[in-house]
Amino acid sequence: MPPLPHQRLGVNVDHVATVRNARGTPTPDPLRAALLAARAGADGITAHLREDRRHIVDDDIARLKDGLGLPLNFEMAATEEMVAIALRHRPHAACIVPEKREERTTEGGLDAVGQHNHLKPLVARLADAGIRVSLFIEADPRQLDMAVALGAPVVELHTGRYCEIEGEAQQAELARIARAAAYCEQLGLECHAGHGLNYDNVGPIAAIPNVRELNIGHFLIGEAIFVGLEAAIREMRRLMDAARGAAA
Ligand code: PXP
Repeated sequence: MPPLPHQRLGVNVDHVATVRNARGTPTPDPLRAALLAARAGADGITAHLREDRRHIVDDDIARLKDGLGLPLNFEMAATEEMVAIALRHRPHAACIVPEKREERTTEGGLDAVGQHNHLKPLVARLADAGIRVSLFIEADPRQLDMAVALGAPVVELHTGRYCEIEGEAQQAELARIARAAAYCEQLGLECHAGHGLNYDNVGPIAAIPNVRELNIGHFLIGEAIFVGLEAAIREMRRLMDAARGAAA
């Protein structure tokens, strides 16, 4: 079997900003983390500017966009405020995520089907500005069909549930994600995945052939406390490559 195509690793630096904001000081700096991540083999950087600015703040987006040699994936809620910021900075990509102020992290995927009328013009405005739009959705064929109808070229499949459960239920969720990834191929959608991934659970997701990018944050930033950010990213890269090598 031919080797699987390279799978990009997007490193999410939100939680570098979480630590910084705990003290209100300029350090640790998410841009410095992003530059280190690039050196360690990250293919892109992801940052989520939440409505409440609990981690990444507006100035981080400006600095990441200008100071980084890597593509920036801007995670955003589907709001006018965030669209205006995306249009101002024109990141390489914008990943539209559902956002509730009270949640601790992004819980569940975007309901592209239910929000079609709201999302349609918003996706068009981002796409017209040359931003590659992705939708963070559950591995549900109806949501994938809707991504096509909305004109989004990319989807990111939510792996949160897969990461939280064990045993047969986890295998069933993995199979659902793999089926959705295969359906993306039929639909001509580029397929990404992410949320909750760590050294123990990344392998089976990395091995899905047409998952072209993983976005990983919280675990890597936590692991960096113990081994350093570069070492943590290199190990994640190694595990992804090993899984794809074994799957080829
Ligand atoms: N992808 C998306 C769309 C996300 O919202 C997040 C969390 O910000 C991630 C990936 C990364 O998840 P984690 O921090 O659990 O690795």
